Amino acid sequence: MAATNEDNIGSLKEQIAKVFEVSLKVTVPEELDVVPLIAACAKKEFGDYQCNNAMSLWSKIKGKGTQFKGPQPVGQAIMKNLPTSDMIESCSIAGPGFVNVKLSKQWIAKSIQKMLTDGIDTWAPKLPVKRAIVDFSSPNIAKEMHVGHLRSTIIGDTLARMLEYSKVDVLRRNHVGDWGTQFGMLIEFLFEKFPSGEVNDQAIGDLEVFYKASKQRFDSDVEFKKRAQKAVVSLQGGEEKYRKAWAQICEISRKGFEKVYQRLGVHLEEKGESFYNPYILKTLDLLREKGLIEESEGAQVIFIEGKKTPLIVVKRDGGFNYASTDLAALWYRLNVEKAEWIIYLTDVGQREHFEMFFTAGKRAGWLPSDESKYPKTSHVGFGLVLGDDGKRFRTRSTEVVKLVDLLDEAKTRCKAALVERGKAAEWTPEELEHTAEAVGYGAVKYADLKNNRSTNYTFNFDQMLNDKGNTAVYLLYAHARICSIIRKSGKDIDDLKKEGELILEKDEERKLGLHLLQFAEVVEEACTNLLPNVLCEYLYDLSEKFTSFYSQWQVIGSAEETSRLLLCEATAVVMRKCFHLLGITPVYKI
Ligand code: ARG
Repeated sequence: MAATNEDNIGSLKEQIAKVFEVSLKVTVPEELDVVPLIAACAKKEFGDYQCNNAMSLWSKIKGKGTQFKGPQPVGQAIMKNLPTSDMIESCSIAGPGFVNVKLSKQWIAKSIQKMLTDGIDTWAPKLPVKRAIVDFSSPNIAKEMHVGHLRSTIIGDTLARMLEYSKVDVLRRNHVGDWGTQFGMLIEFLFEKFPSGEVNDQAIGDLEVFYKASKQRFDSDVEFKKRAQKAVVSLQGGEEKYRKAWAQICEISRKGFEKVYQRLGVHLEEKGESFYNPYILKTLDLLREKGLIEESEGAQVIFIEGKKTPLIVVKRDGGFNYASTDLAALWYRLNVEKAEWIIYLTDVGQREHFEMFFTAGKRAGWLPSDESKYPKTSHVGFGLVLGDDGKRFRTRSTEVVKLVDLLDEAKTRCKAALVERGKAAEWTPEELEHTAEAVGYGAVKYADLKNNRSTNYTFNFDQMLNDKGNTAVYLLYAHARICSIIRKSGKDIDDLKKEGELILEKDEERKLGLHLLQFAEVVEEACTNLLPNVLCEYLYDLSEKFTSFYSQWQVIGSAEETSRLLLCEATAVVMRKCFHLLGITPVYKI
């Protein structure tokens, strides 16, 4: 179970909202449920945040005998009625009643210092869900795990990490394609090659090659095809011999997938399509009771408003399909696992499938039709990975790019760059290895995550491994540089945390401090809108704000050394949390 959210202080926006809530209650006591509308100031010279309630309040209360004469006086009153708070330095009114707030730099400094003592977990945002399922990665057994699955794995892991950080209980589900007609073909081929039943991984060798060979056999031999189709029936009927062969094939695939997950540092819990098989009949019965299922051209379907073709839930041959499984999984996840939010990651090409069975879930009354209510389902669609030629990414030698090879190459290139910079002489071989891996894998992940997920992106090693610009390499190095400033000072940072005081005197210091404090609301936004790139932008911005502070003001040896070292430490702590949420291992030396 997730820990409670009680010790979280909430995002900066939320804290400001609390202050305004008090004022709104006094200003318009007759309006019972006004929610403070707080946003970052569009124009920074006006302040840091603004309260936007005056206009909409005015349109609600005008003509109802209110004492106010327009939106601006409403804004004035909201400002006047603000309780005294050490958070706020000054307020002003702009336009038709916007209340601008400038935060006190002492308060910003104190909040950061508190985080340094209590830990960054106290900055976790509060989300309105207790349990979520993230259905991600989900490759298909015996088929290759392609770059699309890499995207699903990387983006899904980050979303899971952000939700976990926000104290949501997350079930990380690998919905592997381990059920379907292709297994008849594979099993029959297995029997043919190993009539004695003595199979092991080495014997099968490369499962993809095995898949291709069996497919070829399937397509060219009618007799084989018939046997394969029968094998599906035997498998689904639970015949021992067939179940065993199926399990063997799955196990080999699983080992291959596991290697990729290990490298990526991603943890998943497999509940493949086969898991939901026993629930399909019951699920379809429930949908039938609600009158949702109809006959159409020999198949059983659910018609969805606005869609030309219906959602097929029982095929003409009586078999179940991807949609029947997803409906059963939806039922299971809502009723047995009690998930309040189910998040699915696949490429945008599958959007229609998700829209259709989500709609079926709504029509069945399993999901509220109001999408702002829970339980809720979200399809997180992502674009394609392209090669330099602008086409679907592939390498010259193989049609699909092997994930493991990509990671290897990123690491090798990083290592070469480090050796070129003389690190082989400076570091132990383990340090070299560890850094090359952290930077290389981090680069691959970051290059993916920094894009708005719905767009296609071009996979390019030179770009992602560049140590300048918005890359993981640049950011990891920026973090390492901050750590080295702290090391070089010779001060014990834990002592400074206890005895020192953070003071945000200069403009660059204040800007950096405010940005640090905005961490929680950024994670909240990234979670709510399921957009990891929002966190990447924040991180890049953070390193830029640090650079403008550091290039302007001396840290070591200055009169403000203690305070500035604390600011360095806070920046490093927040950067590390960002890396952690993005699944990137930080490095401390460069
Ligand atoms: N196995 C599918 C594929 O490779 C993805 C499954 C996504 N999850 C789901 N519940 N449909 O395309």
